[in-house]
Amino acid sequence: MIIAVDGPTASGKGTIAKALAAHFGLPHLDTGLLYRAVGRQCVLNGGNPDHPSDALAACAFPESLLLDPELRSEATGGLASRASVHPAVREALYDRQRRFALQPGGAVLDGRDIGTVIAPEAIAKLFVVASVDARAHRRFLEMHAHGRDVSLEEIAADLAARDERDCSRKDAPLAAAKDAVVIDTSTLKREEAIAAAIAAVDALT
Ligand code: C5P
Repeated sequence: MIIAVDGPTASGKGTIAKALAAHFGLPHLDTGLLYRAVGRQCVLNGGNPDHPSDALAACAFPESLLLDPELRSEATGGLASRASVHPAVREALYDRQRRFALQPGGAVLDGRDIGTVIAPEAIAKLFVVASVDARAHRRFLEMHAHGRDVSLEEIAADLAARDERDCSRKDAPLAAAKDAVVIDTSTLKREEAIAAAIAAVDALT
């Protein structure tokens, strides 16, 4: 049982994927974290994530990097988005994601191209969306709770730039699979979004 959860940054897809994994007793992989590790490692190497060879070299990041809190920052998200446009980077991360998806019993993966590229055979594909305003507002509250002083305008501009890059890249752009169920979380509370996702998966399995 493979469950694919795709969608843009701060749409709620991570929260939904974690909740689905707990509900169905499946392992969960946040694939964005892999791209974030590549972006971060690239900078640690003194490289530029816009350069394909620098970004590819950074795919050999140490496993311990996945535990680095800096990976969660907006800045690293931006680096990840830049590194993720290179087909060689996507290819380098493919096997790891594919193996995770194919483990016995199934798995939940969240990202941008799970339903379209990594696991097109997934039994349930969810595409989680929310308005830029709703996403910026959520990110704003989250960052302020962590003591980060960033304006709502800055966050909204960063989200819009990331959406644009993720949707317009040639290789595996952010797009809903044809058979994906779209969940719009703009006006949903956390528990409502989770309930909608569980109901959608139940209806497909
Ligand atoms: O989901 P998250 O914000 O952590 O992802 C960071 C960046 O990694 C995204 O903006 C996107 O460019 C890239 N990414 C991707 N494919 C995935 C997951 C993330 O290209 N499956």
